[in-house]
Amino acid sequence: MWDALWINASLATMRDGRYSSIEDGVLAVANGRIAYVGPRADLPIAPERAASFVHDARGAWITPGLVDCHTHLVYGGSRAREFEMRLEGASYEDIARSGGGILSTMRATRDAAVADLLASARIRLDRLAAEGVTTCEIKSGYGLNCDTELKQLRVARALEASANVAIRTTLLAAHALPPEFSGRPDEYVALVTEEIIPAAARAGLADAVDAFCEHIAFTPEQTARVFEAARAHGLNVKLHADQLSDLGGAALAAHHHALSADHLEYTSEAGVAALARAGTVAVLLPGAFYFLREKQLPPIEALRRHHVPIAISTDCNPGSSPTTSILLMLNMACTLFRLTPEEALAGTTIHAARALGLAEDRGVLAVGRRADFALWAVASPGELAYAMGANPLVSVVRGGR
Ligand code: NIG
Ligand code: FE
Repeated sequence: MWDALWINASLATMRDGRYSSIEDGVLAVANGRIAYVGPRADLPIAPERAASFVHDARGAWITPGLVDCHTHLVYGGSRAREFEMRLEGASYEDIARSGGGILSTMRATRDAAVADLLASARIRLDRLAAEGVTTCEIKSGYGLNCDTELKQLRVARALEASANVAIRTTLLAAHALPPEFSGRPDEYVALVTEEIIPAAARAGLADAVDAFCEHIAFTPEQTARVFEAARAHGLNVKLHADQLSDLGGAALAAHHHALSADHLEYTSEAGVAALARAGTVAVLLPGAFYFLREKQLPPIEALRRHHVPIAISTDCNPGSSPTTSILLMLNMACTLFRLTPEEALAGTTIHAARALGLAEDRGVLAVGRRADFALWAVASPGELAYAMGANPLVSVVRGGR
């Protein structure tokens, strides 16, 4: 006997990154894992005899639970004022160089009490969960000192117990140069590699290490040092690469066998080829592209030609992508980047799971995978990307519950 089973559903299994649909399908779970996926006609016995609970999906589409593989959703303060400044003519880089931007969120995050960080992040995470997100990655990067970076990671981990979402944490201490190290970036990188990474690894608080490789952040050489320290502590790496200029970030990430390289607006064909060889996932962030009014599109055609898996994420953060809607990101991935709705859904399921090193565990509807899935009141899975601003979620199952 299985624990539960869903009938009267259409299944978008997302195997091989395609819908790989099953009409009139059955999905069964046992012990928190998917125990059966297939057409009802192939079920050998009556549903009531196969599982303790039989749920009628009433014609809903079932997809894997959505995976938001790139967020910065634990932070203090707000940057609504900077949005206004940008509309008055300042650029994102101008604001960053004048001590605003990431540094203004750093000050608010350093000052914030743990309970307040938890409460504000919980609201954002609940909004993602309300759109079918069952796994969410959360980065630090607004502490920029050991105590506050670890505080952010602890808050991120604590969210897992309170919200119905699985959390993966990423240490992003190399996000910006904190003011106390002004003019001494290499000394800050030494703090990151010699103190912050070892402390996060010792405390078991980080699943991966990320960095921001950019003119307004860290050089490729400094990024490489961060990656070497991460590897020495047994941690995977990821990179904010080629967002505002081409510093060869994608190739650098690939060289270090990064799980993912993210943003990629300025990535060259050589960078794309390097990602393909390394099996690194390209994470595209249409919310940041939209909100910063970027003009340079990521190299979609090259990513397709080189068969680089493409993930899509919210990049939920106060400065460049203050969104908590993964469904809007599906739409924007299609309208702004010209992905197909099928590619966009693959980008928030199978490929997003891979970007977190979870490819074997979730992101597709297949026997043995974690029973994370979402039921949607849509007539076809393409409607998830199509109906901008709608939320057709009916219910969500995480770990079989
Ligand atoms: O992913 N690119 C750098 N980091 C964030 C923005 C952070 C911020 O502005 O607070 C991003 O876009
Ligand atoms: Fe980001």
